[in-house]
Amino acid sequence: MKKSFYVTTPIYYVNDKPHIGHAYTTLLADVLARYHRLLGDPTLFLTGTDEHGQKVQRAADRAGVTPQEQADTTVVRFQELWKKLGITHDDFIRTTEPRHARVVQRILQDLYDRDEIYRSEYDGWYCVPCERFFMEKDLRENTCPECGRAVEHITESNYFFRMGKYQDWLVRYIQEHPTFIQPDFRRNETLGFLRRGLNDLCISRPKTRLAWGIELPFDSDYVTYVWFDALVNYISAIGYLADDARFRQWWPATYHLIGKDILTTHTVYWPTMLKAMGVAMPETVFAHGWWLVEESKMSKSLGNVVNPMEMADRYGVDAFRYFLMAEMTLGQDANFSEESFVRRYNTYLANDLGNLLSRVMKLVASHCGGRVPAPGQPGPDEEHLRDATLAASAAMEKAVNDMRLDVGLAEVAGAVREANRYLERRQPWTLAKQADAGPLGTVLYSAAESLRIVSGLLYPTMPAKMTALRQTLGLSQTKPDMAELKAWGKLPPGTAVGEMTALFPRVKLEREPETKQTRKEPEMEGVVEFSDFKKLDLRTARVLAADKVEGADKLLRLQVEIGGETRQIVAGIARHYSPEQMAGRTIVVVVNLKPAKIRGVESNGMLLAAVAGEDMLRLVTIDGDIPSGTRVQ
Ligand code: MSP
Repeated sequence: MKKSFYVTTPIYYVNDKPHIGHAYTTLLADVLARYHRLLGDPTLFLTGTDEHGQKVQRAADRAGVTPQEQADTTVVRFQELWKKLGITHDDFIRTTEPRHARVVQRILQDLYDRDEIYRSEYDGWYCVPCERFFMEKDLRENTCPECGRAVEHITESNYFFRMGKYQDWLVRYIQEHPTFIQPDFRRNETLGFLRRGLNDLCISRPKTRLAWGIELPFDSDYVTYVWFDALVNYISAIGYLADDARFRQWWPATYHLIGKDILTTHTVYWPTMLKAMGVAMPETVFAHGWWLVEESKMSKSLGNVVNPMEMADRYGVDAFRYFLMAEMTLGQDANFSEESFVRRYNTYLANDLGNLLSRVMKLVASHCGGRVPAPGQPGPDEEHLRDATLAASAAMEKAVNDMRLDVGLAEVAGAVREANRYLERRQPWTLAKQADAGPLGTVLYSAAESLRIVSGLLYPTMPAKMTALRQTLGLSQTKPDMAELKAWGKLPPGTAVGEMTALFPRVKLEREPETKQTRKEPEMEGVVEFSDFKKLDLRTARVLAADKVEGADKLLRLQVEIGGETRQIVAGIARHYSPEQMAGRTIVVVVNLKPAKIRGVESNGMLLAAVAGEDMLRLVTIDGDIPSGTRVQ
């Protein structure tokens, strides 16, 4: 039996309309699902909405509606967008549906009965945008360690899931299953998080503070914490505790696709919840990076949120799908700009692919009576084109398995360029003037055959355009199957070609002056004069000794030598470097920073480090030997 493919997206909060970030994860899932359907794998693609919790409650309050009304209106915006973008999800789950709430309650009751959940006092901090609890020690400069926004202090009686006891098990599980968290560096991020100790998880909210949620089955004064409710969607939708056969057919999920912002909930909360329930782990949690605009995070206040509806309206759904898939290296952040969109569109779609199709079709129409000609004996040029096309097919298959769609699409773009080069070498427009129709037939057949395979490889990414292309080629089967994409010569000679349409008319950057202007302003805002930069005195410094600052688990006290002078500086690097690792290093220090007292310890200067979120920090060091006290400029 074929292995089933079950792919999920995060379920999106219904506090606001969808943006390009939401569209991306869902499109990625769609492309993967469509690809696996072509492979003939039984496929289930699940998406949905996360409708409970404080975020949604607050959005409802702002809009002056009930949270259910807020959910009911916003969910439509997601559903309409998925329809517009050609998303082929098999199911759409809303956490306010009884089929979901029932399962959450049964899980809670079972865990409570087995003492996996207990009642206790909670004293800690809460971040509303992230819907996450944090202990004081986890905060970053008194703000949320995930998003940097303000946190609220909370003291109340609550219910807790005994998550902490699974720490060792989870570390081992992750280490023994390298594909469980992907890409690899995200696995290390989770392991880093776990190494700092795992607390129990507060899974309730008193209704006095927040009534919008699933009621705890064992205490009607409380509702369920939104993440404990939301994560369950991945199994409630496929019949957990309701339809055993269905559940067994699909679980474990092949991929939970997520953005990097929700790594901890998916690779710490969710696996420990499943472990406590006695349910197998999903195969892979795959975290992709962020879409940035002008290299910064999209935010309403910056007014740079990209609206996927608008993009699809302006440039076409499939071009939008293609751009998002081709532009992002899975796992890394990517930058969205309309300029690069238009450049990619005009180069790959309008010029390369569009031209190839129109060149071939025009000649078939005018010289072959609108029918695919029969090929003659292939020469080295034909063999080269065949090999390049089939190589792209193999590369695409590998790229899908490796989650490198950008690489697969680049290979296909390479094959298209190869086909254009082939036409330039073989000059069919000249061959058309010869009496012998043989060579022309061979060339047009080969180019059309290459287009057939390319259309299939691009089908999951651009289903509507590739269906049109296949109709133009006269293919009776507009939906490709995988076997057909690995074989050369499947296009039957004599096939009547369809009507020629301009698949990808060239586009111009719309609203150019306006875009330019809005781009310039933020750029200028962040710009400093060279003279301002020169005010900073950066120097190389040698670390003589280091020790921990008592009572502050993030801080190290360093004694550094800077050109003969010894200084003390305090740095928040203790979670990443031990005192022993620091001694003897040459680092870079801002020496003319106003002295400060950090946790009561004097600090004369600041060291430089690259910081990526809470879990990644690397010192800026010097490449080779140079005396301490040397200016860094
Ligand atoms: N409701 C939770 C998820 C629960 S899953 C059991 C949530 N929802 S969300 O509406 O905030 O959507 C988060 C997801 O949207 C991210 O994980 C990511 O998939 C996508 N994106 C949101 N903004 C993004 C970017 N700027 N770039 C790429 N994707 C991002 O968190």
